[in-house]
Amino acid sequence: MKIDGTHYRTIWQDDAGVVQVIDQRWLPHELRIVPLKTRADFAVAIRDMWVRGAPLIGAAAAWGVAVAMQEDPSDAGLSETWQVLNETRPTAINLRWALDEMERVLRPLAPSERAAAAAKRASDICDEDVEINRNIGLHGLDIIKQIAAKKPGQTVNILTHCNAGWLATVDWGTATSPIYHAHEAGIPVHVFVDETRPRNQGAQLTAWELNHHGIPHSLIVDNAGGHLMQHGEVDMVIVGTDRTTARGDVCNKIGTYLKALAAKANGVPFYVALPSPTIDWRVDDGVKEIPIEERNQEEVTLVQGRGADGQIALVQISPDGTPARNPAFDVTPAELVTGLLTERGLCPADTTEMEKMFSDLKAAMLAD
Ligand code: MRU
Repeated sequence: MKIDGTHYRTIWQDDAGVVQVIDQRWLPHELRIVPLKTRADFAVAIRDMWVRGAPLIGAAAAWGVAVAMQEDPSDAGLSETWQVLNETRPTAINLRWALDEMERVLRPLAPSERAAAAAKRASDICDEDVEINRNIGLHGLDIIKQIAAKKPGQTVNILTHCNAGWLATVDWGTATSPIYHAHEAGIPVHVFVDETRPRNQGAQLTAWELNHHGIPHSLIVDNAGGHLMQHGEVDMVIVGTDRTTARGDVCNKIGTYLKALAAKANGVPFYVALPSPTIDWRVDDGVKEIPIEERNQEEVTLVQGRGADGQIALVQISPDGTPARNPAFDVTPAELVTGLLTERGLCPADTTEMEKMFSDLKAAMLAD
């Protein structure tokens, strides 16, 4: 997508072969682009959320393997890289998906062939992500068109949580791709952006993206969605996912579950934009089986913003020493999900239907 007229991806290899990323910790106040040159750089960038969002975590891990293969392409080096990068963030399955995919391609090769093959596969994974998200957008556009047809001349109001926008992927985003496509198609859309405490990905990233694309939006506090739904102000919810199980339970940013409950109670359709690498066919019951990342307490007690002096700073919002809990994700059970917007089309959140649409991918994952 474009920033001030220039097309960017979130991760790319520059002309000198160095991997560059947008360091998202400083948005929306500063656009910082940083090189990642070593395996350790990638591990820190994923763990400390310079790059974040399930698809981008996967893409970054793939490039991390490619860079690691320049450092040590041996069998032991490959195993250690898989281990080190897999430990960076536990919930988004795209991380493991990408590491397994790199391993599948690289393991049979001689060490001397691995660096080049790894760079090629990492680059292809990025291109595939863009294409997946473009297609999610086209299928989502059909749904937005249907809603628009029921309220001619009026704006379609869409609520989203966290940032499942282009910054969370290589390009397009998942939940935002239908919105960008609808905007391009001339359908009037307006987005309610959940601020998404504790790290405020909605306020800092989604609002920034939508602003750059001229898409009408309103930032709302996380607690406002239920009220807006009760008053008929939300036509649909679209969120992303960090891991979706074989039966369609959806793990996503903390707070997603509450939005799904509110949507169900108010008859608002709740869609999940789901790229196929985010399906974990090994798990069924998301609540019981998905490991939920618990992050630092300080993400709850401190909030980052830009002060009147123009400097980016952290401010403490609770008394000294207040203990906090910080589960970063929650699970929305399949029965609360109206549909999964995938690159192959709209799929019910249901074991049989998901298997029908993705039998090839399920077989491939379970064969590993
Ligand atoms: O902790 P984050 O910022 O990595 O969490 C991101 C989300 O929860 C997104 O909604 C999810 O990864 C889907 S991104 C297309």
